[in-house]
Amino acid sequence: MKSGDGSDQMLADPADIWQECAGNGSGVNLQNVREHIVGLEREAPLLDGRKARYVNLDNAATTPSFKPVLAALSRFLQWYGSIHRSGGFKSLLSTHIYERCRREVADFIGADLSYHTVIFVQNATHALNKLAMRICMPQGHMVLTTVMEHHSNMLPWRKLGCTVEYVGVRPDDGALDLNDMKDKICRNEGRLCLVTVSGGSNVTGVIPPIRRIARLAHAHGAMIAVDATQLVAHRKFKMGASDDPERVDFAAFSAHKMYAPFGSGVLVGPRWVFERGTPDIVGGGTVSGVTIDEVAWADPPEREEAGTPNLPGALALATAIRTLESIGMDNLAEHERELTRRALAKLTRMEGLTLFGPKDPSLGQDRLGVIALNAGGLSHAKLAAILGYEWGIGARNGCFCAHPYVRELLGISMEEMQAVIRKLASGDHATTPGMVRASLGVYNSAEEVDYFVEALQRIVRFGPRAEYVLDANRKGYIPLLSPSTSAATPGAVS
Ligand SMILES: Cc1ncc(COP(=O)(O)O)c(C=O)c1O
Repeated sequence: MKSGDGSDQMLADPADIWQECAGNGSGVNLQNVREHIVGLEREAPLLDGRKARYVNLDNAATTPSFKPVLAALSRFLQWYGSIHRSGGFKSLLSTHIYERCRREVADFIGADLSYHTVIFVQNATHALNKLAMRICMPQGHMVLTTVMEHHSNMLPWRKLGCTVEYVGVRPDDGALDLNDMKDKICRNEGRLCLVTVSGGSNVTGVIPPIRRIARLAHAHGAMIAVDATQLVAHRKFKMGASDDPERVDFAAFSAHKMYAPFGSGVLVGPRWVFERGTPDIVGGGTVSGVTIDEVAWADPPEREEAGTPNLPGALALATAIRTLESIGMDNLAEHERELTRRALAKLTRMEGLTLFGPKDPSLGQDRLGVIALNAGGLSHAKLAAILGYEWGIGARNGCFCAHPYVRELLGISMEEMQAVIRKLASGDHATTPGMVRASLGVYNSAEEVDYFVEALQRIVRFGPRAEYVLDANRKGYIPLLSPSTSAATPGAVS
Protein backbone atom coordinates (compact mmCIF):
# COMPACT_ATOMS: atom_id res chain seq x y z
CA MET A 1 0.00 0.00 0.00
CA LYS A 2 1.36 3.42 -0.98
CA SER A 3 -0.69 5.95 0.89
CA GLY A 4 1.91 8.61 1.79
CA ASP A 5 0.86 8.54 5.44
CA GLY A 6 3.57 6.09 6.51
CA SER A 7 1.24 3.10 6.50
CA ASP A 8 3.11 1.58 3.54
CA GLN A 9 5.93 0.80 6.00
CA MET A 10 3.66 -0.99 8.44
CA LEU A 11 3.81 -4.68 9.13
CA ALA A 12 0.06 -5.13 9.45
CA ASP A 13 -2.31 -4.00 6.71
CA PRO A 14 -4.10 -0.90 8.03
CA ALA A 15 -6.87 -1.48 5.51
CA ASP A 16 -7.86 -4.57 7.51
CA ILE A 17 -7.94 -2.59 10.73
CA TRP A 18 -9.94 0.16 9.04
CA GLN A 19 -12.44 -2.41 7.83
CA GLU A 20 -12.55 -4.02 11.26
CA CYS A 21 -13.19 -0.66 12.93
CA ALA A 22 -15.41 1.24 10.52
CA GLY A 23 -17.46 -1.72 9.30
CA ASN A 24 -19.78 -1.20 6.36
CA GLY A 25 -22.85 0.22 8.02
CA SER A 26 -23.63 -3.19 9.56
CA GLY A 27 -26.49 -3.95 7.19
CA VAL A 28 -28.53 -0.99 8.39
CA ASN A 29 -31.55 -0.30 6.20
CA LEU A 30 -34.78 1.65 6.33
CA GLN A 31 -36.66 -1.26 7.88
CA ASN A 32 -34.24 -1.91 10.74
CA VAL A 33 -32.80 1.56 11.29
CA ARG A 34 -34.58 2.06 14.65
CA GLU A 35 -32.59 -0.87 16.05
CA HIS A 36 -29.42 1.00 15.14
CA ILE A 37 -30.08 4.28 16.94
CA VAL A 38 -28.69 4.81 20.44
CA GLY A 39 -31.25 5.56 23.16
CA LEU A 40 -34.52 5.23 21.22
CA GLU A 41 -36.00 3.06 23.95
CA ARG A 42 -35.35 5.68 26.67
CA GLU A 43 -38.36 7.07 28.49
CA ALA A 44 -39.13 10.61 29.54
CA PRO A 45 -40.86 11.40 32.85
CA LEU A 46 -44.29 12.96 32.37
CA LEU A 47 -46.14 15.49 34.45
CA ASP A 48 -48.54 12.89 35.90
CA GLY A 49 -45.74 10.73 37.20
CA ARG A 50 -45.85 8.23 34.36
CA LYS A 51 -43.13 7.69 31.82
CA ALA A 52 -43.49 7.67 28.07
CA ARG A 53 -41.08 6.66 25.39
CA TYR A 54 -39.30 9.83 24.32
CA VAL A 55 -40.29 10.99 20.84
CA ASN A 56 -37.43 12.99 19.46
CA LEU A 57 -38.56 15.54 16.88
CA ASP A 58 -35.51 17.74 17.31
CA ASN A 59 -33.20 16.29 14.69
CA ALA A 60 -32.45 19.66 13.11
CA ALA A 61 -30.74 20.63 16.37
CA THR A 62 -28.86 17.39 16.81
CA THR A 63 -29.41 13.75 15.98
CA PRO A 64 -28.90 10.75 18.23
CA SER A 65 -25.92 8.55 17.46
CA PHE A 66 -25.99 5.56 15.14
CA LYS A 67 -25.01 2.42 17.06
CA PRO A 68 -22.42 1.47 14.40
CA VAL A 69 -20.70 4.78 15.22
CA LEU A 70 -20.34 3.82 18.88
CA ALA A 71 -19.23 0.33 17.93
CA ALA A 72 -16.57 1.67 15.55
CA LEU A 73 -15.25 4.02 18.21
CA SER A 74 -15.05 1.34 20.83
CA ARG A 75 -13.19 -0.99 18.41
CA PHE A 76 -10.86 1.72 17.19
CA LEU A 77 -9.96 3.21 20.58
CA GLN A 78 -7.86 0.12 21.17
CA TRP A 79 -5.65 1.29 18.32
CA TYR A 80 -5.90 5.00 19.08
CA GLY A 81 -2.66 7.00 18.99
CA SER A 82 -1.33 10.43 18.05
CA ILE A 83 -1.70 11.58 14.45
CA HIS A 84 1.19 12.71 12.23
CA ARG A 85 3.50 12.70 15.24
CA SER A 86 5.23 9.40 15.79
CA GLY A 87 6.60 6.33 14.04
CA GLY A 88 4.95 3.97 16.51
CA PHE A 89 2.46 1.45 15.15
CA LYS A 90 -0.64 2.96 16.75
CA SER A 91 0.39 6.40 15.62
CA LEU A 92 0.95 5.32 12.02
CA LEU A 93 -2.29 3.43 12.08
CA SER A 94 -4.20 6.38 13.56
CA THR A 95 -2.78 8.63 10.87
CA HIS A 96 -3.89 6.15 8.23
CA ILE A 97 -7.40 5.92 9.69
CA TYR A 98 -7.69 9.72 9.92
CA GLU A 99 -6.72 10.18 6.27
CA ARG A 100 -9.06 7.37 5.30
CA CYS A 101 -11.91 9.22 7.05
CA ARG A 102 -11.09 12.26 4.96
CA ARG A 103 -11.42 10.19 1.78
CA GLU A 104 -14.73 8.74 2.96
CA VAL A 105 -16.10 12.26 3.49
CA ALA A 106 -14.77 13.35 0.09
CA ASP A 107 -16.41 10.39 -1.66
CA PHE A 108 -19.72 11.01 0.12
CA ILE A 109 -20.02 14.55 -1.20
CA GLY A 110 -18.22 13.97 -4.51
CA ALA A 111 -15.17 16.06 -3.64
CA ASP A 112 -12.10 15.42 -5.77
CA LEU A 113 -9.05 15.38 -3.49
CA SER A 114 -6.73 16.38 -6.34
CA TYR A 115 -8.69 19.65 -6.50
CA HIS A 116 -10.53 20.00 -3.19
CA THR A 117 -9.28 19.92 0.34
CA VAL A 118 -11.42 18.40 3.08
CA ILE A 119 -10.71 20.14 6.38
CA PHE A 120 -11.89 18.62 9.64
CA VAL A 121 -13.24 21.29 11.98
CA GLN A 122 -15.41 21.32 15.12
CA ASN A 123 -18.77 22.01 13.49
CA ALA A 124 -20.45 24.01 10.74
CA THR A 125 -20.07 27.27 12.66
CA HIS A 126 -16.33 26.73 12.88
CA ALA A 127 -16.23 25.82 9.18
CA LEU A 128 -18.06 28.98 8.08
CA ASN A 129 -15.92 31.20 10.31
CA LYS A 130 -12.81 29.59 8.88
CA LEU A 131 -14.04 30.13 5.35
CA ALA A 132 -14.82 33.76 6.09
CA MET A 133 -11.26 34.28 7.34
CA ARG A 134 -9.76 32.53 4.35
CA ILE A 135 -11.74 34.05 1.46
CA CYS A 136 -9.59 36.91 0.28
CA MET A 137 -11.82 39.94 0.23
CA PRO A 138 -10.32 43.02 -1.40
CA GLN A 139 -11.56 46.42 -0.18
CA GLY A 140 -15.00 47.27 -1.57
CA HIS A 141 -15.86 43.68 -2.45
CA MET A 142 -19.02 41.97 -1.43
CA VAL A 143 -20.56 38.77 -0.05
CA LEU A 144 -24.16 37.94 -0.86
CA THR A 145 -26.02 35.84 1.66
CA THR A 146 -29.73 35.48 2.41
CA VAL A 147 -32.29 36.36 5.06
CA MET A 148 -33.00 32.61 5.39
CA GLU A 149 -29.60 31.82 6.89
CA HIS A 150 -28.71 30.45 10.29
CA HIS A 151 -26.66 33.06 12.18
CA SER A 152 -23.61 30.89 11.53
CA ASN A 153 -23.82 31.73 7.84
CA MET A 154 -24.45 35.41 8.51
CA LEU A 155 -22.31 36.71 11.34
CA PRO A 156 -18.91 35.43 10.12
CA TRP A 157 -19.33 37.51 6.95
CA ARG A 158 -20.17 40.67 8.87
CA LYS A 159 -16.91 40.38 10.78
CA LEU A 160 -14.91 40.75 7.58
CA GLY A 161 -15.62 44.41 7.13
CA CYS A 162 -16.67 43.91 3.48
CA THR A 163 -20.16 44.70 2.20
CA VAL A 164 -22.70 42.01 3.03
CA GLU A 165 -26.01 42.00 1.20
CA TYR A 166 -29.01 39.78 1.86
CA VAL A 167 -31.37 38.13 -0.60
CA GLY A 168 -34.93 38.42 0.64
CA VAL A 169 -37.50 35.67 1.24
CA ARG A 170 -41.15 35.32 0.32
CA PRO A 171 -43.15 35.72 3.55
CA ASP A 172 -45.91 33.31 2.45
CA ASP A 173 -43.78 30.18 2.03
CA GLY A 174 -40.35 31.31 3.24
CA ALA A 175 -38.67 30.46 -0.07
CA LEU A 176 -35.83 32.60 -1.37
CA ASP A 177 -36.85 35.47 -3.62
CA LEU A 178 -34.97 34.29 -6.70
CA ASN A 179 -35.65 37.50 -8.62
CA ASP A 180 -33.97 39.41 -5.84
CA MET A 181 -31.10 36.90 -5.90
CA LYS A 182 -30.68 37.31 -9.66
CA ASP A 183 -30.87 41.07 -9.45
CA LYS A 184 -28.27 41.30 -6.68
CA ILE A 185 -25.88 38.91 -8.41
CA CYS A 186 -26.15 40.67 -11.78
CA ARG A 187 -25.94 44.21 -10.38
CA ASN A 188 -22.81 43.43 -8.39
CA GLU A 189 -20.75 41.65 -11.03
CA GLY A 190 -17.11 42.59 -10.59
CA ARG A 191 -17.30 43.20 -6.87
CA LEU A 192 -19.31 40.16 -5.76
CA CYS A 193 -16.83 37.54 -4.48
CA LEU A 194 -19.07 34.96 -2.89
CA VAL A 195 -22.70 33.89 -2.74
CA THR A 196 -23.27 31.89 0.44
CA VAL A 197 -26.57 30.12 0.88
CA SER A 198 -28.22 27.47 3.00
CA GLY A 199 -28.64 24.06 1.37
CA GLY A 200 -31.78 23.54 3.48
CA SER A 201 -33.46 25.77 6.03
CA ASN A 202 -33.36 24.80 9.69
CA VAL A 203 -36.63 26.71 10.22
CA THR A 204 -38.94 25.85 7.32
CA GLY A 205 -37.19 22.99 5.54
CA VAL A 206 -37.03 25.04 2.32
CA ILE A 207 -34.42 23.65 -0.09
CA PRO A 208 -33.10 26.48 -2.27
CA PRO A 209 -32.20 25.62 -5.88
CA ILE A 210 -28.45 25.63 -5.24
CA ARG A 211 -27.51 24.42 -8.74
CA ARG A 212 -29.36 27.32 -10.37
CA ILE A 213 -27.85 29.76 -7.91
CA ALA A 214 -24.38 28.28 -8.54
CA ARG A 215 -24.76 28.71 -12.32
CA LEU A 216 -25.83 32.31 -11.88
CA ALA A 217 -23.04 33.10 -9.41
CA HIS A 218 -20.37 31.58 -11.65
CA ALA A 219 -21.71 33.35 -14.74
CA HIS A 220 -21.14 36.63 -12.88
CA GLY A 221 -17.68 35.84 -11.57
CA ALA A 222 -18.55 34.82 -8.00
CA MET A 223 -17.97 31.60 -6.10
CA ILE A 224 -20.67 29.81 -4.13
CA ALA A 225 -20.60 28.36 -0.61
CA VAL A 226 -23.37 26.08 0.62
CA ASP A 227 -24.16 25.72 4.29
CA ALA A 228 -25.06 22.06 3.89
CA THR A 229 -25.62 21.51 7.61
CA GLN A 230 -29.30 20.57 7.29
CA LEU A 231 -28.95 18.92 3.90
CA VAL A 232 -26.23 16.26 4.01
CA ALA A 233 -28.01 13.79 6.29
CA HIS A 234 -31.32 14.14 4.41
CA ARG A 235 -30.59 14.45 0.69
CA LYS A 236 -27.84 13.38 -1.68
CA PHE A 237 -25.42 16.28 -1.93
CA LYS A 238 -22.47 16.53 -4.37
CA MET A 239 -19.92 19.29 -4.90
CA GLY A 240 -19.80 18.85 -8.68
CA ALA A 241 -16.72 18.79 -10.95
CA SER A 242 -14.37 21.75 -10.83
CA ASP A 243 -15.37 22.84 -14.36
CA ASP A 244 -19.11 22.35 -13.86
CA PRO A 245 -20.90 25.73 -13.95
CA GLU A 246 -23.35 24.31 -11.38
CA ARG A 247 -20.61 23.17 -8.97
CA VAL A 248 -20.58 24.13 -5.33
CA ASP A 249 -17.22 25.71 -4.47
CA PHE A 250 -17.39 25.41 -0.67
CA ALA A 251 -19.50 23.33 1.66
CA ALA A 252 -19.76 23.25 5.44
CA PHE A 253 -21.54 20.83 7.75
CA SER A 254 -21.59 19.28 11.25
CA ALA A 255 -21.31 15.59 12.13
CA HIS A 256 -23.61 15.89 15.14
CA LYS A 257 -26.54 16.42 12.78
CA MET A 258 -25.50 13.26 10.90
CA TYR A 259 -25.83 10.73 13.74
CA ALA A 260 -22.18 11.20 14.81
CA PRO A 261 -22.15 13.49 17.87
CA PHE A 262 -18.42 13.51 18.59
CA GLY A 263 -17.41 17.10 17.94
CA SER A 264 -16.40 17.08 14.30
CA GLY A 265 -17.45 19.03 11.25
CA VAL A 266 -16.20 19.64 7.75
CA LEU A 267 -15.20 22.49 5.48
CA VAL A 268 -14.56 21.58 1.84
CA GLY A 269 -13.24 23.86 -0.86
CA PRO A 270 -10.68 24.24 -3.62
CA ARG A 271 -7.21 23.52 -2.28
CA TRP A 272 -5.76 26.70 -3.82
CA VAL A 273 -7.92 28.91 -1.63
CA PHE A 274 -6.31 27.47 1.49
CA GLU A 275 -2.76 27.52 0.12
CA ARG A 276 -2.31 31.22 0.71
CA GLY A 277 -2.38 33.56 3.68
CA THR A 278 -2.21 32.82 7.37
CA PRO A 279 -4.53 30.20 8.89
CA ASP A 280 -7.22 31.51 11.25
CA ILE A 281 -5.82 29.46 14.15
CA VAL A 282 -2.08 28.89 14.26
CA GLY A 283 0.15 26.59 16.26
CA GLY A 284 1.10 22.93 16.25
CA GLY A 285 0.34 20.98 13.10
CA THR A 286 -0.08 24.00 10.82
CA VAL A 287 3.56 24.47 9.84
CA SER A 288 6.35 22.78 7.97
CA GLY A 289 9.03 24.88 9.72
CA VAL A 290 9.44 27.71 12.21
CA THR A 291 12.35 29.95 13.18
CA ILE A 292 12.28 32.75 15.70
CA ASP A 293 11.16 35.18 13.00
CA GLU A 294 9.83 33.05 10.15
CA VAL A 295 7.09 30.49 9.52
CA ALA A 296 6.65 28.16 6.58
CA TRP A 297 3.03 27.01 6.60
CA ALA A 298 2.17 23.41 5.84
CA ASP A 299 -0.04 22.55 2.86
CA PRO A 300 -3.79 22.27 3.36
CA PRO A 301 -5.55 20.55 4.98
CA GLU A 302 -2.92 20.33 7.80
CA ARG A 303 -2.40 24.08 7.59
CA GLU A 304 -6.04 24.57 8.60
CA GLU A 305 -6.18 21.93 11.34
CA ALA A 306 -4.29 23.51 14.22
CA GLY A 307 -3.59 21.36 17.26
CA THR A 308 -4.22 17.67 17.76
CA PRO A 309 -6.98 16.58 15.36
CA ASN A 310 -10.23 15.04 16.60
CA LEU A 311 -9.66 11.56 15.22
CA PRO A 312 -12.57 9.92 17.10
CA GLY A 313 -14.81 12.66 15.70
CA ALA A 314 -13.57 12.02 12.15
CA LEU A 315 -14.06 8.26 12.53
CA ALA A 316 -17.54 8.81 13.95
CA LEU A 317 -18.44 10.90 10.91
CA ALA A 318 -16.96 8.40 8.44
CA THR A 319 -18.85 5.56 10.09
CA ALA A 320 -22.08 7.55 10.10
CA ILE A 321 -21.57 8.18 6.39
CA ARG A 322 -21.14 4.43 5.80
CA THR A 323 -24.35 3.84 7.73
CA LEU A 324 -26.24 6.50 5.76
CA GLU A 325 -24.98 4.88 2.57
CA SER A 326 -26.03 1.45 3.78
CA ILE A 327 -29.57 2.82 4.24
CA GLY A 328 -29.28 4.59 0.87
CA MET A 329 -29.68 8.35 0.59
CA ASP A 330 -32.56 8.00 -1.88
CA ASN A 331 -34.43 5.58 0.41
CA LEU A 332 -33.83 7.83 3.38
CA ALA A 333 -35.00 10.93 1.50
CA GLU A 334 -38.17 9.20 0.33
CA HIS A 335 -38.94 7.99 3.87
CA GLU A 336 -38.54 11.50 5.29
CA ARG A 337 -40.63 12.95 2.46
CA GLU A 338 -43.38 10.45 3.22
CA LEU A 339 -43.39 11.43 6.90
CA THR A 340 -43.45 15.11 5.95
CA ARG A 341 -46.39 14.57 3.58
CA ARG A 342 -48.22 12.73 6.34
CA ALA A 343 -47.59 15.48 8.88
CA LEU A 344 -48.55 18.29 6.52
CA ALA A 345 -51.69 16.54 5.29
CA LYS A 346 -52.93 16.47 8.90
CA LEU A 347 -51.56 19.79 10.12
CA THR A 348 -52.92 21.81 7.19
CA ARG A 349 -56.42 20.64 8.12
CA MET A 350 -56.09 21.54 11.78
CA GLU A 351 -57.94 24.48 13.30
CA GLY A 352 -56.06 26.82 15.60
CA LEU A 353 -52.67 26.15 14.09
CA THR A 354 -50.39 28.35 12.02
CA LEU A 355 -47.80 26.71 9.80
CA PHE A 356 -44.76 28.58 8.53
CA GLY A 357 -42.87 27.87 5.32
CA PRO A 358 -44.11 25.67 2.48
CA LYS A 359 -47.45 24.06 3.28
CA ASP A 360 -48.10 21.91 0.23
CA PRO A 361 -48.76 18.36 1.55
CA SER A 362 -48.06 16.91 -1.90
CA LEU A 363 -44.50 18.24 -1.71
CA GLY A 364 -44.66 19.47 -5.31
CA GLN A 365 -41.43 21.27 -4.44
CA ASP A 366 -38.97 19.15 -2.46
CA ARG A 367 -38.38 20.30 1.13
CA LEU A 368 -36.92 18.87 4.31
CA GLY A 369 -38.94 17.41 7.19
CA VAL A 370 -38.55 20.55 9.28
CA ILE A 371 -41.94 21.96 10.26
CA ALA A 372 -42.39 25.24 12.13
CA LEU A 373 -45.71 26.20 13.69
CA ASN A 374 -47.60 27.95 16.43
CA ALA A 375 -50.81 26.60 17.90
CA GLY A 376 -53.65 27.11 20.33
CA GLY A 377 -52.89 30.77 20.98
CA LEU A 378 -50.09 29.57 23.25
CA SER A 379 -46.63 31.06 23.28
CA HIS A 380 -44.10 28.90 21.46
CA ALA A 381 -42.17 28.37 24.70
CA LYS A 382 -45.27 27.17 26.55
CA LEU A 383 -46.34 24.90 23.70
CA ALA A 384 -42.89 23.27 23.57
CA ALA A 385 -42.99 22.79 27.36
CA ILE A 386 -46.44 21.16 27.19
CA LEU A 387 -45.26 18.81 24.45
CA GLY A 388 -42.31 17.85 26.61
CA TYR A 389 -43.91 17.60 30.07
CA GLU A 390 -47.26 16.15 29.04
CA TRP A 391 -46.42 14.11 25.96
CA GLY A 392 -42.72 13.24 26.14
CA ILE A 393 -42.05 14.93 22.81
CA GLY A 394 -38.78 16.77 22.18
CA ALA A 395 -39.39 19.76 19.91
CA ARG A 396 -37.43 22.99 19.84
CA ASN A 397 -38.88 26.47 20.12
CA GLY A 398 -37.70 30.02 19.66
CA CYS A 399 -36.04 31.61 16.65
CA PHE A 400 -33.61 28.75 15.92
CA CYS A 401 -30.56 31.02 15.53
CA ALA A 402 -32.25 32.55 12.50
CA HIS A 403 -33.71 35.78 13.91
CA PRO A 404 -34.01 37.72 10.62
CA TYR A 405 -35.79 34.82 8.89
CA VAL A 406 -38.18 34.16 11.79
CA ARG A 407 -38.93 37.89 12.00
CA GLU A 408 -39.95 37.85 8.31
CA LEU A 409 -42.07 34.73 8.70
CA LEU A 410 -43.85 36.08 11.76
CA GLY A 411 -44.38 39.45 10.07
CA ILE A 412 -42.77 41.38 12.93
CA SER A 413 -41.60 44.89 12.12
CA MET A 414 -37.95 45.83 12.45
CA GLU A 415 -38.83 48.22 15.31
CA GLU A 416 -40.67 45.50 17.22
CA MET A 417 -37.73 43.16 16.75
CA GLN A 418 -35.30 45.77 18.02
CA ALA A 419 -37.47 46.16 21.12
CA VAL A 420 -37.43 42.37 21.58
CA ILE A 421 -33.63 42.28 21.31
CA ARG A 422 -33.36 45.03 23.94
CA LYS A 423 -35.66 43.07 26.27
CA LEU A 424 -33.67 39.88 25.76
CA ALA A 425 -30.42 41.72 26.45
CA SER A 426 -31.91 42.93 29.74
CA GLY A 427 -32.80 39.32 30.70
CA ASP A 428 -36.54 39.53 29.95
CA HIS A 429 -37.49 36.34 28.09
CA ALA A 430 -41.22 36.47 28.78
CA THR A 431 -42.49 37.69 25.44
CA THR A 432 -39.90 36.57 22.91
CA PRO A 433 -41.44 35.85 19.51
CA GLY A 434 -40.82 32.48 17.96
CA MET A 435 -42.24 29.16 16.83
CA VAL A 436 -42.19 25.49 17.69
CA ARG A 437 -40.22 23.27 15.35
CA ALA A 438 -40.60 19.55 14.72
CA SER A 439 -37.74 18.13 12.68
CA LEU A 440 -37.61 14.59 11.38
CA GLY A 441 -34.80 12.10 11.01
CA VAL A 442 -34.48 8.81 9.18
CA TYR A 443 -35.52 6.76 12.22
CA ASN A 444 -38.76 8.64 12.96
CA SER A 445 -41.91 6.64 12.28
CA ALA A 446 -45.40 7.36 10.98
CA GLU A 447 -46.70 6.53 14.49
CA GLU A 448 -44.50 9.25 15.97
CA VAL A 449 -45.80 11.77 13.44
CA ASP A 450 -49.40 10.79 14.27
CA TYR A 451 -48.66 11.04 17.99
CA PHE A 452 -47.26 14.56 17.53
CA VAL A 453 -50.34 15.61 15.57
CA GLU A 454 -52.63 14.07 18.20
CA ALA A 455 -50.75 15.93 20.94
CA LEU A 456 -51.21 19.22 19.11
CA GLN A 457 -54.91 18.53 18.50
CA ARG A 458 -55.52 17.79 22.19
CA ILE A 459 -53.52 20.79 23.34
CA VAL A 460 -55.39 23.12 20.98
CA ARG A 461 -58.74 21.66 22.03
CA PHE A 462 -58.30 21.20 25.77
CA GLY A 463 -55.34 23.39 26.67
CA PRO A 464 -52.51 22.38 29.00
CA ARG A 465 -53.15 20.03 31.90
CA ALA A 466 -51.24 22.24 34.35
CA GLU A 467 -50.40 25.83 34.93
CA TYR A 468 -47.01 26.77 33.50
CA VAL A 469 -44.72 29.52 34.74
CA LEU A 470 -41.69 31.05 33.18
CA ASP A 471 -38.50 29.87 34.82
CA ALA A 472 -36.03 32.73 34.54
CA ASN A 473 -33.02 30.43 34.97
CA ARG A 474 -34.05 28.00 32.27
CA LYS A 475 -35.58 30.73 30.09
CA GLY A 476 -38.46 28.35 29.48
CA TYR A 477 -41.78 27.28 31.00
CA ILE A 478 -42.10 24.73 33.77
CA PRO A 479 -45.32 23.26 35.17
CA LEU A 480 -46.64 24.25 38.57
CA LEU A 481 -47.44 20.84 39.99
CA SER A 482 -50.85 20.49 41.60
CA PRO A 483 -53.22 17.54 42.31
CA SER A 484 -55.12 18.21 39.06
CA THR A 485 -52.00 17.35 37.08
CA SER A 486 -52.04 13.77 38.29
CA ALA A 487 -55.05 12.88 36.09
CA ALA A 488 -54.28 10.51 33.26
CA THR A 489 -52.19 11.93 30.47
CA PRO A 490 -52.65 10.38 27.01
CA GLY A 491 -50.17 7.57 26.50
CA ALA A 492 -47.13 7.70 24.30
CA VAL A 493 -46.58 5.57 21.23
CA SER A 494 -45.12 2.20 21.92
C1 LIG B 1 -28.50 25.61 8.68
C2 LIG B 1 -27.53 25.58 9.82
N1 LIG B 1 -26.31 26.09 9.64
C3 LIG B 1 -25.40 26.09 10.62
C4 LIG B 1 -25.70 25.57 11.85
C5 LIG B 1 -24.66 25.57 12.92
O1 LIG B 1 -24.33 24.25 13.23
P1 LIG B 1 -23.36 23.94 14.46
O2 LIG B 1 -24.06 24.45 15.68
O3 LIG B 1 -23.22 22.48 14.44
O4 LIG B 1 -22.09 24.67 14.19
C6 LIG B 1 -26.97 25.04 12.09
C7 LIG B 1 -27.34 24.52 13.43
O5 LIG B 1 -28.49 24.33 13.74
C8 LIG B 1 -27.90 25.04 11.04
O6 LIG B 1 -29.12 24.52 11.21
